[in-house]
Amino acid sequence: MKILVTGAAGQVGTDLLPLLVEQGHEVTVFDIARRPAGCPEPVTWVQGDITGRPEVFDAVKASRPDLIYHLAAILSARGEDMPHVAYRVNLDGTMNVLEAARLFETGQVFFASTIAAFGPGLPDLVPNEISMRPTTMYGVTKVAGELLGEYYARKFGLDFRGVRFPGLLNAGIPGGGTSDYALFMYVEGLRTGSYAAFCEPHAMIPFMYMPDALRAILELAEAPREKLTRHVYNIASISATAEEFADAVRARVPGVDLTFEPVPELQAILDSWPRALDDTAAREDWGWQPEYDLEAMSDDLIAKVKALLVEDAPAPTP
Ligand code: SER
Repeated sequence: MKILVTGAAGQVGTDLLPLLVEQGHEVTVFDIARRPAGCPEPVTWVQGDITGRPEVFDAVKASRPDLIYHLAAILSARGEDMPHVAYRVNLDGTMNVLEAARLFETGQVFFASTIAAFGPGLPDLVPNEISMRPTTMYGVTKVAGELLGEYYARKFGLDFRGVRFPGLLNAGIPGGGTSDYALFMYVEGLRTGSYAAFCEPHAMIPFMYMPDALRAILELAEAPREKLTRHVYNIASISATAEEFADAVRARVPGVDLTFEPVPELQAILDSWPRALDDTAAREDWGWQPEYDLEAMSDDLIAKVKALLVEDAPAPTP
């Protein structure tokens, strides 16, 4: 297939790209970042701004993708520091992608939605369909993105699909998410031996290990359209408190010093998100099934972070 990935230099895209190349797809990237040194080959890398409609149109027109993975976005914590930029990147960007897909007849658009699309006052297990009243700009733009995609599906017949990602953990360094505290426990814990999390020990939101998230992306894209009863799906795997994450790291990294220095604004964002997602619809419609729980993820992630730290270590001086 011909595939265009927006935001491919981000947390999800960085791990998705090699998989797509490995599967033999013809991949084009549209990202504000320059092509990184480790970019897999062959990939056509278009450096551009997702808020620039002509740039997005040109990229879609030139590559004529069968499928667009639209991953470009500014996450929640960074979005609160610059809400206007988050609005433009997340919402104008999504509109540009949808409109390009309509004009140049892209078969399918995948949209990365999020637990942040929900707002305060949720039940303990949050169903796929419930009133969505997020309090962050990131969340507002993601609900609107879901609705815009559904509008394009209804009005123009676009095959629009998406998942609501939990907080994601992988060995790469994330950027600007309120869920990042969990990953920092692993990365900073291993790198420096200590980390003070910006949340309360009892903070609890859904999380997922990146290999599961990537499988969800690929499996949903391949699912027969007639099996899908909605456009956007909750997906779930790990729900654990921050203290439970800390314990999982402590059990594997002897002597690590993990503490909590809550930042009220960030804790308030976490309090407004689901504690756990009900992913029954995804399981029933396209057979979604996570593989990693907290323990399995911790074993795998720690090995990967350690390997990266060795790779990045300065060469020993003679
Ligand atoms: N990881 C995201 C964030 O923290 C949640 O989708 O903003």
